[in-house]
Amino acid sequence: MLLADATMRALPCWICLSSLLTTSLLCVSAENQCKIKNEVADCSHLKLTEIPSDLPINITGLDISHNQLKKLPPANLTKYSKLIYLDAGYNSISKLQLELCQSLPLLTVLNLKHNQLHELSDVVFDSCTNLTELNLGFNIIEIKGNLFKPLKNLIILDVSHNHLKSTKLGSQQQLENLHELVFSDNKITELKKEDLEFLSNTSLKRLDLSSNPLTEIHTGCLRVIGNLYGLVLNNIDLGENRTEKLCSELSNTKIQNLSLSHINLLCIDNSTFYGLERTNLSALNLSENSLSVIKNGSFRWLANLEELNLEYNKISHLYSHSLYGLSKVKYLNLKNALTRIIDDFSFYSLTQLEYLNMDGNTFPEITAHLFTGLDNLKYLSLCNCDTNLHRISNKTFSSLANSTLQVLNLTKDRIYTIESGAFSWLGHLKSLDLGLNDITQVLTGHEFQGLSNIQDIYLSYNKQLTLTSDSFTFVPSLRKLMLRKVACSNLDLSPSPFHPLQNLTILDVSNNNLANIRIDLFDGLHKLEILDLQHNNLARLWKHANPDGPVLFLRDLFNLRVLNLKSNGFDEIPVQVFKGLIHLRSLDLGSNNLNLLPATLFDDQVSMNSLILQKNLITSVEDKVFGTVFKNLKELQLDSNPFDCTCESISWFVSWLNVTQAYIPGLDSHYLCNTPPHYHDTLVMHFDISPCKDSAPFKLLYIISTTVVLLLIIIVTLIQFEGWRIAFYWNVSVNRVLGFNEIDRQPEDFDYDAYIIHARENKNWVLKNFIPLEKNQQFQIRFCLEERDFEAGISEFEATMNSIKKSRKIIFVVTEQLLKDPWCKKFKVYHALQQAIEQSRDSIILIFLHDIPDYKLNQALFLRRGMFRSHCILDWPAQKERVNAFHQKLRLALKSSSKVL
Ligand SMILES: *[C@@H]1O[C@H](CO)[C@@H](O)[C@H](O)[C@H]1NC(C)=O
Ligand SMILES: *[C@@H]1O[C@H](CO)[C@@H](O)[C@H](O)[C@H]1NC(C)=O
Ligand SMILES: *[C@@H]1O[C@H](CO)[C@@H](O)[C@H](O)[C@H]1NC(C)=O
Ligand SMILES: *[C@@H]1O[C@H](CO)[C@@H](O)[C@H](O)[C@H]1NC(C)=O
Ligand SMILES: *[C@@H]1O[C@H](CO)[C@@H](O)[C@H](O)[C@H]1NC(C)=O
Ligand SMILES: *[C@@H]1O[C@H](CO)[C@@H](O)[C@H](O)[C@H]1NC(C)=O
Ligand SMILES: *[C@@H]1O[C@H](CO)[C@@H](O)[C@H](O)[C@H]1NC(C)=O
Ligand SMILES: *[C@@H]1O[C@H](CO)[C@@H](O)[C@H](O)[C@H]1NC(C)=O
Repeated sequence: MLLADATMRALPCWICLSSLLTTSLLCVSAENQCKIKNEVADCSHLKLTEIPSDLPINITGLDISHNQLKKLPPANLTKYSKLIYLDAGYNSISKLQLELCQSLPLLTVLNLKHNQLHELSDVVFDSCTNLTELNLGFNIIEIKGNLFKPLKNLIILDVSHNHLKSTKLGSQQQLENLHELVFSDNKITELKKEDLEFLSNTSLKRLDLSSNPLTEIHTGCLRVIGNLYGLVLNNIDLGENRTEKLCSELSNTKIQNLSLSHINLLCIDNSTFYGLERTNLSALNLSENSLSVIKNGSFRWLANLEELNLEYNKISHLYSHSLYGLSKVKYLNLKNALTRIIDDFSFYSLTQLEYLNMDGNTFPEITAHLFTGLDNLKYLSLCNCDTNLHRISNKTFSSLANSTLQVLNLTKDRIYTIESGAFSWLGHLKSLDLGLNDITQVLTGHEFQGLSNIQDIYLSYNKQLTLTSDSFTFVPSLRKLMLRKVACSNLDLSPSPFHPLQNLTILDVSNNNLANIRIDLFDGLHKLEILDLQHNNLARLWKHANPDGPVLFLRDLFNLRVLNLKSNGFDEIPVQVFKGLIHLRSLDLGSNNLNLLPATLFDDQVSMNSLILQKNLITSVEDKVFGTVFKNLKELQLDSNPFDCTCESISWFVSWLNVTQAYIPGLDSHYLCNTPPHYHDTLVMHFDISPCKDSAPFKLLYIISTTVVLLLIIIVTLIQFEGWRIAFYWNVSVNRVLGFNEIDRQPEDFDYDAYIIHARENKNWVLKNFIPLEKNQQFQIRFCLEERDFEAGISEFEATMNSIKKSRKIIFVVTEQLLKDPWCKKFKVYHALQQAIEQSRDSIILIFLHDIPDYKLNQALFLRRGMFRSHCILDWPAQKERVNAFHQKLRLALKSSSKVL
């Protein structure tokens, strides 16, 4: 009962909450549709029929173009009173309300193009004094009264494509600040004085009347405009007569920039531009006119012209004086303009010319005087020309000998051969483009002789270039050398052709099927920053199976920033190959066969920005390989690899992907798991790494337990094989430490220097060899011999113990017999060892009469050679001559102090 009551009371609340949630969600989605950035709302292409009411009220720009608005209701805009920029183009707006500018007092740019504005109230812009830009293009406006008069600050007015029949926008002087007026694509047929009088106080930088069916230009119509600096009359069928009329109308105006493109001007002569003599015209565009004849002296009136565009014409004969008088022209565009003949000295008067584009022209040959006079030429483009450039000889460019040409572009000229000294005239040249030709030759170096300032040479895409060691000896200033796809498959040269190029920063030798290069090919190129080696066949060089190991041809390029090694068939990569390349920012290893990358491969590439390894056979992406190189990465392309989606292989990668800011194209489509089977073809991003994290403690446990087991194994093995040594040293150390040192006695405490342990069978040998030593003055030694020195009356057992104690050292005479003597084996050895332990390892001397291996010694007597100092182990010499030496050794062993451990 109580529960039901509570539910009942909670229910309305729940409903209200959920409705609140849905409405706020709706708001969010509507707002999200408009993109808001820097106080500008982009609401374009949203099929909107109304102005959104939920935008931030402080927006200064609103793009609501490409929608379905029928009106621009000021009421709905009032809240955005900070708007400076409003683009309502591409809608269906047919009416403008008076209050628009009142509600948007700060509006300066209003774009209303591509709407259906037709009748505009003549007070509609009354409040729009702040407007500087108004676009009413592509409407069907009818101009009545002085619509634009209030727009005192307007700078740009576009009324293009409006079916206007005249240029008359008002009957009174207005638009005094207008700079640009666009009338293009209307139905204007006549330019009348009274139709342009409203501009009598205006300085127009650009009046565009293009694409109008203009047939009549009335006298004085252009001079009525306050100042006219720029006039565009493209796409009007002016022809020769009206062009001439136009120019005379422009006489004495301020005209500087005149565009007459596509006006059906077929022929010009010395009268065409006569009217422009008394102007300051600086730029003239005559492109796309099918112009075929430029009579001598046509341009003689244009002494101030700086820019002349004649591209896309059909000039069949350029006479020696066609361009006469253009002494100030700096820029001349003749692209696709000349079809047959160019006279010598045609450019003779263009002494200031800096830029000449002659692309796509047809003419018989580059004669000895074609370019004579172009002493200031900096840029010459002769691309795609149909002329005699197949063989460039040392005469071809002789007419440029006095120029300071810096750029020469000769692409697509079907050049076949470059002869020695071909460019020797061009000592100022910085850039030479010979790409996309058919050059087939051995480059001996003399081709580039004289290019003492050259920086860039483009030779890419030629038939067959064979390099030699001297190919570039004359151009040490070179910075950029492009040799892509030139079939120079053999670079196995010594010395390297690139060796003279110490200034080289960019080198492209891609697409050459290179298979053999020497390790020193790029040595000394310390300034090289970009190296393109893609699409070659360099895989063999990095194989470990090479007789001299991998060929590390990048070893000297420590300034390298960009390296492209794509598509080389690499299936192995030496760990040291990128060492030292600390400036490398971009590396492309895509489309190779790489599978396992060595752990420290990228350790020097901490500042890498872009890494491409797509389309390889990489299965795992682990911290130990990629940890360093991923640190500062901005772009990664690792797609299309057969990833193994297991914890070991990719869990680190997936967690990196979750946090990285790097741009990774195709992450949600081209990063797919290959193995294990149940992950096949799923996205790497979807790999669940949570179970992997749990394995971390197990990993630790695993490491600890394996360590313990290993340690145990080692200890057991040690004990098995070296246990005696451990036990022995242990005992010795314990005795030292625990202070059995009282046993350290002075020499006078001993009765004997040495007690001799031997087998009974060796008694005679001992007596024979040791007794004489006691008599030797050098030795002054007294041995304890059982047979001679044992006290009578006590047991042999006791006697042995006493004698050992009374002797400073113990000598073992080790023989096969000793090993078998039970008395020695047990008792004597035990006590001797005890002595050694208590006193010193030095106190035992082993004399081997027979060659007895250590293991036998150990089995029989529990002794090993290793227990004693080496000077205490003596071998009885087989040769008599050596007995003396043996005695010396024995003496040293006996004299050595027994105190040092
Ligand atoms: C504009 O308004 C938004 C919130 O509507 C605010 O985040 C932003 O800081 C404001 N910008 C300025 C320049 O006031
Ligand atoms: C636009 O204004 C009208 C009239 O004030 C109002 O009825 C309408 O809701 C407004 N639309 C928006 C989207 O604000
Ligand atoms: C034009 O803009 C200024 C601020 O730049 C403003 O003070 C003035 O009121 C605006 N003029 C009109 C007519 O809205
Ligand atoms: C141009 O004018 C000349 C006479 O001034 C006339 O002979 C010629 O037919 C005119 N050309 C055209 C295309 O109207
Ligand atoms: C124009 O050229 C013609 C010959 O084509 C010549 O007779 C005439 O004098 C030239 N006019 C001027 C102004 O140079
Ligand atoms: C041009 O080459 C020819 C041989 O091909 C040679 O005789 C002549 O001296 C060269 N001229 C110059 C200016 O180098
Ligand atoms: C270069 O200038 C010199 C001296 O002004 C002149 O003699 C020579 O003919 C000129 N050569 C060319 C190709 O213009
Ligand atoms: C040479 O001209 C071609 C074609 O116009 C152009 O693609 C190339 O960039 C130019 N070369 C240089 C060095 O400007």
